[in-house]
Order: sequence, then C-alpha cells, then structure tokens
Amino acid sequence: MSRSPEPSMMVIFGGSGDLTRRKLIPSLFRLSRSRMIPAGFTIIAVSRSRMTDDSYREMLRSWADKDGQNETWNNFAQGIFYMSADYRDPATYERLKELMSKKEAERRTGANRLYYLATPPADYPDIVRHLGENGLSREDSGGAGWIRIIIEKPFGYDLASARELNHEVSFRFEERQVYRIDHYLGKETVQNILVFRFANGIFEPIWNRQFIDSIQITASENIGVEGRGTYYEQAGALRDMVQNHIMQLIALVAMEPPPDFHPDSVRDEKSKVLRSIRRIAPEEVSSLAVRGQYGRGFTRGKEVVGYLEEPGVAPESRVETFAAIRFNIDNWRWADVPFYIRTGKNMAKGVTEIAIIFRETPHLIFRQEPGAGIRSNVLAFRIQPDEGITLRIAAKLPGQTTEMRPVNMDFRYGSTFGPHLAGAYERLLLDCMLGDPTLFNRIDSVEASWSLIQPILDTWKADQSTPIPQYESGSWGPTESDQLLARDGRAWRLL
Ligand code: BG6
Repeated sequence: MSRSPEPSMMVIFGGSGDLTRRKLIPSLFRLSRSRMIPAGFTIIAVSRSRMTDDSYREMLRSWADKDGQNETWNNFAQGIFYMSADYRDPATYERLKELMSKKEAERRTGANRLYYLATPPADYPDIVRHLGENGLSREDSGGAGWIRIIIEKPFGYDLASARELNHEVSFRFEERQVYRIDHYLGKETVQNILVFRFANGIFEPIWNRQFIDSIQITASENIGVEGRGTYYEQAGALRDMVQNHIMQLIALVAMEPPPDFHPDSVRDEKSKVLRSIRRIAPEEVSSLAVRGQYGRGFTRGKEVVGYLEEPGVAPESRVETFAAIRFNIDNWRWADVPFYIRTGKNMAKGVTEIAIIFRETPHLIFRQEPGAGIRSNVLAFRIQPDEGITLRIAAKLPGQTTEMRPVNMDFRYGSTFGPHLAGAYERLLLDCMLGDPTLFNRIDSVEASWSLIQPILDTWKADQSTPIPQYESGSWGPTESDQLLARDGRAWRLL
C-alpha cells in the first residue's frame, strides 16, 4: 500500500552532526528521489557551526554518495536551509520561528512541522523547553498544521534522567506528537517478527514454555567505536545497545498478540511484556550479567587497537564494550525460559540474530553422535546481514544407515524479494510524516527498559575494583559470557 505524506518541513537540531550526515540526509534524499515525499519538502538544519545555506549544501554534497552530483540532488538541496545558532539562547527560537514562517510561505509546506533532535542528548531538555516557551510546540487548535518531534536515542542517561526528560517533553508536547525513535524498529526483518508470529497459524501455538527451551539474541559488531570514543565513554554497551535495541527485540519476540495493528494496541503489549521481565537484583548481577572490554586483535582482516587506546577513551576506562545478560520473564507464557542476550564491539562477526531454541525431542529412537545437535529445532531470525529466517531440522543422511544431520529450511529476503531493503530511517521518517507511531517507543516502554538496566548499571558502577574481563578483538567476547550459559547447561549458537 503506497503512502504519501502531506507537504511538511523538518527542522533538524544537530544539522552538522554524525547522524544527520550518515543517516538523516541520505534517507531523506532517497525518499525524495523515489517520490515518497512531496516536492516542497523543506529542511532547516540548525547547528552551532558558522555556515550559509550554500556552504551547508556544499558540505552535504561532499557527504552524500555518488548520487549526490546529479540534478536530483540539486533539486533536493534547493529545499535545504541552514541556521547557525546556539540551542541555549532564547533568541534562536525567535529567529527560527521567522525562518520557518518565511519558508513555509515560499514552499507551501502547509505549516506541518517536524522537529528532529539529533544533537548530543544533553541539549534535548533545553531545546524542548525553548520550543515550548516560544509557542512552537502546540498544534494550533484551528488546525493550521501538525507539529511532531522525533527524539533520537539515547532517551535519557539512566532511569532518573529519562523521567526528567519525559517530564519536560510531556509538559510541552502531547504524547501523540512525540516520536521516540529506535532505528531497529525500522528494519524490515525486525518488523517481520510480528508478521511471522501473527500472520502464520502454525507458530503461535508452540510459542511458549511448553515447546521453547530458551531464546538467544546476539547483536555483535565487527567494528570498534569508530571515532565515537567520547560518546561511547558516556554510554557503554548497556546504554548504547541493550536498553533500546535489544530490549525492543525481546519485546517483539515475547509480547502477546495484540487485538489489532493499531499503534496503541501494539505498544500496550510491548510495554506489558517489558514490565513482566524480572528485575535483576543487585546481588544477582554478578551471576546474570557479564561485561567485557575489547583488547587488541584482528577484525575484518585488519589489526585493531584495544578500547583503551581508542581516541577519546580514558586510559583507565571501565566502560564495557560487551555485555551478556540472562533475563527471565515472569508470566504464564515464558516462566522458566531464559532469554540470553549478548552484544559487543569488535567481535568475530557483525551479526544480529534472534534464535528460538525449541525443547529437545522427549525420546529419540535413532542413534546420534554426541554433540550432533540433532534433538532441538532452532528457528533463527537473521536481522542482518543475509536477512532471513531459518528453521533447523534433523534430516536423514542419504545412504544405508539412519545417520542424521541438522539441515536448514531457509527463507532469504534477498533471493525472494530482491536485494534492496529500504533503510530503517527511511521507513521511520516516513511513518512519522504520516503520523503513524506504531514503530516508535512510548514512554512507558522506555522507562520499563531503563528500570531493567538500572540495577546492572548501578552495580557495575559501584564496583570500581574488579577487573573488567578483556576479550581479544575478533573473538566472541570474554569467556565469562560462555560460562553464563554453561552454568545452565547451554552454549551460545555458533554464528
Ligand atoms: C546505534 C549505536 O544505535 O546502533 C551504535 O549507537 C551501533 O554504536 C548501531 O553501532 C548499530 O546499528 P546497526 O543498524 O548497524 O545494527
């Protein structure tokens, strides 16, 4: 079903930053090139650097890919304007107001405004407050146009700051105007989890503790912090990946079927299951959560430095670049089914996968070699790369014996639907312009995730003496991560 939003204007705070360069502008350009957004679409980029419209467009052109040189790019770039400003200065918002009104009239964007917070998160509360104080946050009751705000992750630094930020946001905006983005929810394969579960009749009846032994979620990256050391020092793997992306994956896999695909029906169920996840008590952190930090090693065929040698990283930093945790969900569907998650930088492979590991057959009449892994079926959602879904089953090896091997039934996006999958940001930006918040996070989910992570953050922070387990770059993380599963008689899947 093709969908086309009304003309609108997007104000990007953080216009010269990494996210704008790597994700926002390329995604908006692709949307515009494929005519998914109307011709008058306008961008006002706000940032501290001193630039003019022309020098900003020039900088974008150098950032843009090879497509950036042609006429389509020039047309797109004509709709981009730049405003150099200090986010904390009230005068900025007066100027912004004038500029928006002027461009709205010129480009007929119908007073539909979308703000994007892509600055360092410390600036979010000020920007939100100033927008509110300058009458730029409330939609005109006369219906002049819509006003929405996208808030980039991290939404808060911990539970308390997430609540504070939310307090400011909800004082200035209605919840229906607020779009808290998690780009994992925009990935095709992540959306497909819901279609797979709720548009097929055969899986849901076995999607529970009677049939499922455990769930493993891996989001490993084979890159390091890539010049973002300063940011990463304030984050670490828990804040950077677990609190948002991984908790969202757990929610999609574990939630109950919603009554319909209405945004709040889906988000109610996600929030409910996140609230059913057992909070790890401080005294359990050492047995249920593992952290690690990468040392030197090889990734993608190249020798790489350890985390402590990365630019912007303190030489004695205790920030974790790897985390593995065992969660449990206290409800009827999932009681006693462990959810093991792991994520890390500079690991052996860049893979994001959710594996549903079914219980073993109760009795096997065939002889099998020890460790052949025949007895449990595994359903794996490959989020990236090689997007697809695989079901591991046992099959008889051709020949005169009944020797068995695990084999895969495979669905691959690339071979079924062709190679190109729309980028996550494209999908989410378009959804926001269309006013569809289904794939954005509601505040209750954000707070529920923070409250699950908080005891781990606090316990790790309080412990300033235990050495952080090190792992060699290019490996699967510290041995403590294997021990986490081995203690339960399980092992990480080989990926
Ligand atoms: C971002 C994190 O949210 O997600 C990055 O800040 C991480 O550190 C990235 O690399 C991973 O996203 P993707 O889409 O590459 O899996």
